[in-house]
Amino acid sequence: MSDIALAIIGGTGLYQIAALENVETREGDTVYGKPSAPVRIGYLGGKKIAFMARHGEGHSVAPHKVNYRANMRCLKDLGITKVLAINAVGGITDAFGPRVVSVPDQIIDYTYGRLHSLSEEPGSEVLHVDFTEPYCAKLRANILRAAKKIEMPIVDFGCYGATQGPRLETRAEITRMRRDGCDLVGMTGMPEAAIARELALCFTTVALVTDHDAGVDAGGAVTHEEVLQVFARSLEGLKSLLKSAIGAMPAPEDDESALCSCRRSLDGLRLPFALPR
Ligand code: HPA
Repeated sequence: MSDIALAIIGGTGLYQIAALENVETREGDTVYGKPSAPVRIGYLGGKKIAFMARHGEGHSVAPHKVNYRANMRCLKDLGITKVLAINAVGGITDAFGPRVVSVPDQIIDYTYGRLHSLSEEPGSEVLHVDFTEPYCAKLRANILRAAKKIEMPIVDFGCYGATQGPRLETRAEITRMRRDGCDLVGMTGMPEAAIARELALCFTTVALVTDHDAGVDAGGAVTHEEVLQVFARSLEGLKSLLKSAIGAMPAPEDDESALCSCRRSLDGLRLPFALPR
């Protein structure tokens, strides 16, 4: 375990945290290969945090090409215990218009062909981790409390539908997702969350809505440029939220004293890998 209070994974539109002080860079290389970007470790508001750009610092890695296993394993190897992912998403239901910020509580996975698990290798032990609640309840509560403290409106629920991309969705796909119960659509929520659970990490997501219905009701598809523009307008609010959340983040607890069930997700299971101590 390290003294890093929180790792942040930046998605589309968030490639660095400029306010990070005394930055140390770890290139990272894992048993699953190289992560999308180096990990920048530094201080924000006196707390030690880590940052990684999910799509690479120059946004060169497409959602379906991200090595989710390497990204998460790299954070685990650094002794990190808590991970907050930032995701630009489309809103599907009424509560999720552009610029709404949400802490989702559920996931439906529509992705395919990605390496979804740490049990992919032939002959490896199979991991059946509990994923009933895909996000860490404690970390979600921390983020919601941090938003309340700065009086930032935030939606405390949301079902994240993870699509394969990189293309946007058809009208019928959005209709189906709405029928399925999704509130949000994005391309990177899975398998990131599931792999975090397989590594017994506390993991949650802050989703920023950049467009509604992938443009299908409005009659025109959203463009990557529009996603970036709306995200940029939400960036100040997001930075305030991160500052508030990091300021209140407790010191990392060791495995024995952590109360959170995420940290117990591998108890009693035979692992296909060795975990760092
Ligand atoms: N669809 C999928 N992914 C997205 C969208 C969308 O509309 N907006 C931002 N990420």
